Amino acid sequence: MNPLVTRIDFKWTRLTLRQPWRTAIAGTKVQLSTLPPEPVVPFKKPFKVELIGGKRYSWCACGHSKNQPFCDGAHKTKAQGLSPLRFVPEKDATVWLCGCKYSNNPPYCDGTHKQAFVLSATLHKHKDS
Ligand code: FES
Repeated sequence: MNPLVTRIDFKWTRLTLRQPWRTAIAGTKVQLSTLPPEPVVPFKKPFKVELIGGKRYSWCACGHSKNQPFCDGAHKTKAQGLSPLRFVPEKDATVWLCGCKYSNNPPYCDGTHKQAFVLSATLHKHKDS
């Protein structure tokens, strides 16, 4: 085998692989976002819930669940990119779980629901029943 031919073929192959890549980047005008969708506001107050220690809970993070404040799987079709927050309390406790979905300490209420952006938000209404 002629080593020169192999080397030329190798260079040609590298060029054909690189050219479409460079063209695709140069011609790209679509801006992609890596941010997840924003949750909707199903309630503007927290839920008082009695949790059982050691039990696994899934707190709805998207706001689309009909079983607030817990997940019913609605995020799979209505808020892809958001997932429920799963947690297991260490012991039995009565807690306030966030209902507005904007707490900075999820799943627990931290008072964010009193802020203007939540108070002025439109409550999410389920379109299907
Ligand atoms: S209900 Fe969301 S922070 Fe209070």
